[in-house]
Amino acid sequence: MSNEAKLELDGKTFTLPTITGSEQERAVDVSSLRANTGYITLDDGYGNTGSCVSKVTFIDGDKGILRYRGIPIEELAEKSNFIETAYLLIYGSLPTRPQLKTFSDLLAEHQFLHEDMKYHFQGFPTGSHPMAILSSMINAASCFDEGLMHWQFGKMKQFDIYVAKLISQVRTIAAYSYRKSQGLPLIYPKQSYKYTPNFLHMLFSMPYEEFDIKPEVAKALDLIFLLHADHEQNCSTSTVRMVASSQANLFASCAAGVCALWGPLHGGANQAVLEMLADIHSSGDDGSKFITAAKDKNSGKKLMGFGHRVYKNHDPRATIIKKSCDEVLSRLNISDPLLDIAKKLEEAALKDSYFVERKLYPNVDFYSGIIMRAIGIPVEMFTVIFAIGRMPGWIANYKEIMEEPKSRIYRPRQIYTGKTINSYVPLDQRK
Ligand code: CMC
Repeated sequence: MSNEAKLELDGKTFTLPTITGSEQERAVDVSSLRANTGYITLDDGYGNTGSCVSKVTFIDGDKGILRYRGIPIEELAEKSNFIETAYLLIYGSLPTRPQLKTFSDLLAEHQFLHEDMKYHFQGFPTGSHPMAILSSMINAASCFDEGLMHWQFGKMKQFDIYVAKLISQVRTIAAYSYRKSQGLPLIYPKQSYKYTPNFLHMLFSMPYEEFDIKPEVAKALDLIFLLHADHEQNCSTSTVRMVASSQANLFASCAAGVCALWGPLHGGANQAVLEMLADIHSSGDDGSKFITAAKDKNSGKKLMGFGHRVYKNHDPRATIIKKSCDEVLSRLNISDPLLDIAKKLEEAALKDSYFVERKLYPNVDFYSGIIMRAIGIPVEMFTVIFAIGRMPGWIANYKEIMEEPKSRIYRPRQIYTGKTINSYVPLDQRK
């Protein structure tokens, strides 16, 4: 069987090579299409377009499979933790004990922000959205670091230090973003705490009282970070790769990822889910009226936390997080009316032909918001938590671009449908 594609255009036949990935995913390689035929491909929303080859994460959306560097997400969720998984994603294999120690030491060493960055936090008005502060401050970090200001793409001897700085400092910036948004004093990270407890400490301790970090709360949050750590070529990761392709520094590229993540169709969905559940609750609906509205294209409503471009069977992250959600709520002895509504919505949608025919299942954001609410994370921090979790995936993708010898700037084409040649009309003659 031929592994070439034949394309007939303008009476001529062109041959296009195909490429097969390690999991037998197939692509027609159109790299030479425009040069050979004068045509480009058009693929709104990139639903059929592979923008790169990557060794980081594999997803089979039809089967509900997600693997980081080949390891199933279920196994990592059970046996690993966020920091070990971050190492796996960025460096390609699980760390040995000494490698993990070096990585953890680097994270601890670089968790403090430049002291002058505090003045920038002060400049944001109380009530600012923490995602706006997060993206701004990750980018602003370049102004405080010579290495970032004079970034040598692919030639940074200390790239590992910048990896550690970003993973560690995103957590410090995220906590400060929240403290600032609430007008609370900033709390420094504590050297003796591990990654996730330290975040909870910076988020909730007060200068006069340390926050009591419950192990089950730290574990649930660590799992949320881990489950979000990568997800192949989604909107934010592709944004990071796009910016990285111009050879921008690591922090600038990942700050762009934070902006892309913020929207409600992507990382912002976790906040949108909670807001949807709260609206349903306050309107006295048990979810049934909302389901009807979500099916009506004119209602402007969608069932947030449902559907996925890639998963058409189930989102494996949602399965894991649903279990963790039940455990956390029962351990903390919390009964949440919003969870009851969520369960009703899920049950109703999974039986409804509209959702079944369109293969719309709960995604990771459907339950992550409920857990975060249960463990006391404020709703405007939900997407920030997603951003902290996704940082290793963005860094791993940045690193791939940086280490690819043939990497070139991302520069898509378009089909222009605007006016053909037109003349400039002076201001006083315009109608
Ligand atoms: N509620 C109601 N209808 C929906 C929903 C939903 N949540 N999602 C998709 N549909 C409908 C959509 O209107 C379309 O209907 P029709 O065929 O009649 O025009 C059909 O299902 C196919 O949807 P689509 O818009 O082609 O799907 P997409 O691949 O472009 O978008 C999505 C995927 C995730 C943006 C979308 O499902 C959505 O908006 N979901 C709600 C937001 C959400 O939960 N986002 C988080 C995604 S998971 C976290 C992450 O990785 O970012």
